[in-house]
Amino acid sequence: MPELERIPPNEAEMIEKIVKLTAGQMKTRYPDKDQIRRGVHPKDHGCVMARFQVKDSLPEHLRIGVFALPGHTYGAWIRFSNAALRIGRDASTGKDGAAQHGSRGMAVKLMGVTGNSLVPTHGPLTQDFLMINQPVFAFSNVEDYLALNEVLSRDGDVKPPVGFFTRTMDAAAAQRAKRTREIIGQIQSAEPFPAPPFAFQKPPASPVDNRYFSGSPFLFGEDRIMKFSASPLDPSSAVPNTGDEDYLRTALLERLTAPDAKDIVFDFQVQVRAASSLDIETEIEDACGEWREEDHPFVTVATIAIPPQNFDTDERKRLGEDLTFTPWHGIAEHRPLGGINRLRLAVYEASTQLRHVPPEPAHY
Ligand code: HEM
Repeated sequence: MPELERIPPNEAEMIEKIVKLTAGQMKTRYPDKDQIRRGVHPKDHGCVMARFQVKDSLPEHLRIGVFALPGHTYGAWIRFSNAALRIGRDASTGKDGAAQHGSRGMAVKLMGVTGNSLVPTHGPLTQDFLMINQPVFAFSNVEDYLALNEVLSRDGDVKPPVGFFTRTMDAAAAQRAKRTREIIGQIQSAEPFPAPPFAFQKPPASPVDNRYFSGSPFLFGEDRIMKFSASPLDPSSAVPNTGDEDYLRTALLERLTAPDAKDIVFDFQVQVRAASSLDIETEIEDACGEWREEDHPFVTVATIAIPPQNFDTDERKRLGEDLTFTPWHGIAEHRPLGGINRLRLAVYEASTQLRHVPPEPAHY
């Protein structure tokens, strides 16, 4: 098997520090330990049930892992969220009075999965696909994520984390910080054109009106690597109603409970590349490194259908809180790769343990 990852010698130590800092931040944000919410993405816009169907006509070379059986349908749960550290308005107001957007999340959990589990889970084996609405993550690697967390723990949940950019850095770290600043600018911008920073895409009127991306890479079988994406088939181009602080939930609920509501459909797509063709440092270990679609087109391997439903119930809200989505809930064929993904193993576990006060409810 070709070399897939390059692990810095002090990585385990850095990860341990990040876990401690994250837990400390969560305890500060939520002094009542019964009220602790996710370390990031605490605000959800809805937890919905869905069907995830592998394409009938999937070519032989793409029949891997959860995509092994063409036509197979998995039951799925999807949780839509804001990435922001705290629960607040879906769009805040910037200095110029304009709406300031944030990163949004779409976490998909396939049920009834069989295969070799990557980690012991608290429930049956699932395959989780976590995505954000940008093709890249804003921080390159574990070293930078540690620097960010040191700033957050020292300065509080400041936005943007100014200290991250003003700290003493070597030339390579300064170059990465420049890229992080550009990515954050592109996340907050509402303008796909004409003025820079260009938004990655138009801010969505509802959570189902944007594309979502894994950002980081994952195995696709033994010797290929994928990034994945969910792309809505019929996105609305309506203007976001940012006056409503929960407009993403409101709009999703309207879409799924309207008298003439129909299934909301996403194509689930992958970019698949031979492991031996990748530059490990820039295309696997750097989560800010984009695999440009022009060079590596996405192909559709499955369809996600979200049927009409009322998800605005106490029971569903509780389920959304109980569920644990992590890139490490999955099978060996789709192992997460790269520093940011290695870091996520321990941090998601710490976050879910902290927010599930014993006796722990069963959570997938
Ligand atoms: C490409 C990179 C990443 C993507 C696409 C991503 C995406 C997501 C999404 C969609 C969620 C919400 C899951 C849900 O609805 O329950 C989430 C949760 C979370 N993320 Fe990330 N994330 C990324 C990187 C990171 C990193 C580097 C960290 C820190 C090490 C992190 C920490 C967390 C934590 C603590 C949670 C909450 C876990 C829980 O309590 O269940 N994420 N992430």
